[in-house]
Amino acid sequence: MISNNHKGGRSLGVLILAAGEGTRMESTIPKVLHPVGGRPMIFYTMRLANALKPSAIGVVIGYEADKVKASVTQIVRDCGISRPIHYILQKKPLGSGNAVLEAVPFLKKFKTVVVLCGDTPLLTFESGYALVQSHEEQKGQVTLLTAKLSNPKGYGRIVRSPLGEVLKIVEESVASSKELSINEINSGAYCFEVEALQVGLKEIGAKGPKKEHFLTDAMELIRNKGGKINAYMSQNPEEVLGVNSRIQLSHAERILNRRMLDRLMLSGVTILDPASTHVDADVEVGQDTTIHPSTILRGKTIIGKHCQVGPFCFVENAQVGNDCEIRMSQLTECRILEKCNIGPFAHIRPESVIGPRVRIGNFTEVKASRIGFGTKVNHLSYIGDAEIHEDVNIGAGTITCNYDGKAKHKTTIAAKAFVGSNVNLIAPVKIGRGAKIAAGSTVTEDVPDDALAIARARQVIKK
Ligand code: UD1
Ligand code: MG
Repeated sequence: MISNNHKGGRSLGVLILAAGEGTRMESTIPKVLHPVGGRPMIFYTMRLANALKPSAIGVVIGYEADKVKASVTQIVRDCGISRPIHYILQKKPLGSGNAVLEAVPFLKKFKTVVVLCGDTPLLTFESGYALVQSHEEQKGQVTLLTAKLSNPKGYGRIVRSPLGEVLKIVEESVASSKELSINEINSGAYCFEVEALQVGLKEIGAKGPKKEHFLTDAMELIRNKGGKINAYMSQNPEEVLGVNSRIQLSHAERILNRRMLDRLMLSGVTILDPASTHVDADVEVGQDTTIHPSTILRGKTIIGKHCQVGPFCFVENAQVGNDCEIRMSQLTECRILEKCNIGPFAHIRPESVIGPRVRIGNFTEVKASRIGFGTKVNHLSYIGDAEIHEDVNIGAGTITCNYDGKAKHKTTIAAKAFVGSNVNLIAPVKIGRGAKIAAGSTVTEDVPDDALAIARARQVIKK
């Protein structure tokens, strides 16, 4: 008989199931590492687990265990999670019931445990808290997080008595046609009294086409031993989406993106066309910035206030200061300081720091370069491994020839220099302050301050 003792110290553990291969993803990457909103799916489960403030978090790993462990370690670091993390190795992928069984030595440390799946990235903190709170209030042995879906296909169905008590969960693969018509489903998030869970786990048998041990079978077994199964129904059916296939992955991406866009709009960002705008989970955008259609902001991108970004921009892990205009351009791992005007059709590559008040025009590529205050690189240039100081004008078609076939070399252009059109700067080379370079020059030697360099063949007219 299962005891009904809910008193005693609040000792909560969270267990995350992440050992499955994810066969239906048709992938060599473990399912929980597939990105959603620019982060591996398990990131969201880890964040939710941490928000529940447990004494420790257990993660069941199995398929590609080292990769999953490395990713979780990174997430723990990124999110500053300080509670202990325990890894539990599931030796064989014998189902979610077996995954939890392997974790019993970890679970025994707690009175209550929340079990989460690593493939449900949309679950909200609100439902997580509500699940635990409802478990504490209803004083049963198990509380399930459920939802009513118009299309429950693929999920475990919640079977209730005529009085509404939860009797069991039936998996789709073994459900009768009557059970299949039930539209209340199991989200895969549960709160268990550990003592009751252990009793249930022992008796789960192999089932279904793959002879798996379903964790969901524990409910009926716990009930048969006198336990009580309660349910907390989510108010937001979208959040229970489980990602088992690439199609579901695309649904998760769309929903998460919409949440991100809503969050930004509520904080004062104008998004002209949410349907064509994609924003990753860590992106930040300042107040009164407008994001124009067909713009993708990825990774840890931060955009300042009062900017115009897009249409057709791809920005990844870049920082853009206040009052910038970025049109039809690609920016990766770079910093654009305030009041810059970039594009159309500019490509700003990693390790570049540009601005303030810099103008980078069409068909200009900048790589690992520093471009100072007020400088203009308006048309058709390649600026690589260069340091360009303030108020420099770079003429159309100017190229820093930074690569000699073996190594990269630096170009330095001091303040107020004027570089004419179609100049080749053969690095390493330094152009002095206020120096002028005649159009069409190929500069191989340093140019002193305020000097004029002409390095081109004299025009000859022959008849
Ligand atoms: C599971 C539930 C189903 C629920 C759905 C919600 C079971 C039997 N079924 O189905 O009732 O509606 O989630 O999304 O649990 N895992 C392991 N080891 C294994 C097998 C799975 O750790 O041997 C992990 C997976 O990595 C995953 C989780 O358990 O995170 C669920 O497994 P999955 O195969 O996705 O189950 P579903 O068919 O989605
Ligand atoms: Mg699943």
